[in-house]
Amino acid sequence: MAVSLSVNGKSYSVDVPPQVPLLWVLRDVVGLTGTKFGCGMALCGACTVHVNGVAQRSCVLPVGAVKGPVTTIEGLSASGNHPLQKAWIAANVPQCGYCQSGQIMQAASLLARNPKPSDADIDAAMAGNICRCGTYTRIRAAIKDAAGVKS
Ligand code: FES
Ligand code: FES
Repeated sequence: MAVSLSVNGKSYSVDVPPQVPLLWVLRDVVGLTGTKFGCGMALCGACTVHVNGVAQRSCVLPVGAVKGPVTTIEGLSASGNHPLQKAWIAANVPQCGYCQSGQIMQAASLLARNPKPSDADIDAAMAGNICRCGTYTRIRAAIKDAAGVKS
């Protein structure tokens, strides 16, 4: 039975079993490869997308359990001009880049509910997003820049 899904404002009907993780559907069926596979166990955050505006680990979320519109890094802004994306570029945050779409989606979810986060708020919200390249200092600076919070 097909599963209906809204991704970045477009409707899809995907012919996959409902237990297939959303990440697989996004990458292999819908063709949006900005969302990455890291651990597959909700431990790294590389696969973070929004469901109803809230950060979710798409590697462990069965597509049949998705209730609400999905936003991926490709849909975060019309042309890469979300304040976080601009701050990321200004701060030259990425190294290899693999974790970065998940980092930005996690941070966007934070700022949507807490536009002026403290250092502790940022640390708490971002703790589950792992960066093997160690870009954490620049990630925090970019989030504060996007939020207009002093470093
Ligand atoms: S791939 Fe989903 S949390 Fe690591
Ligand atoms: S930039 Fe390489 S894993 Fe984060």
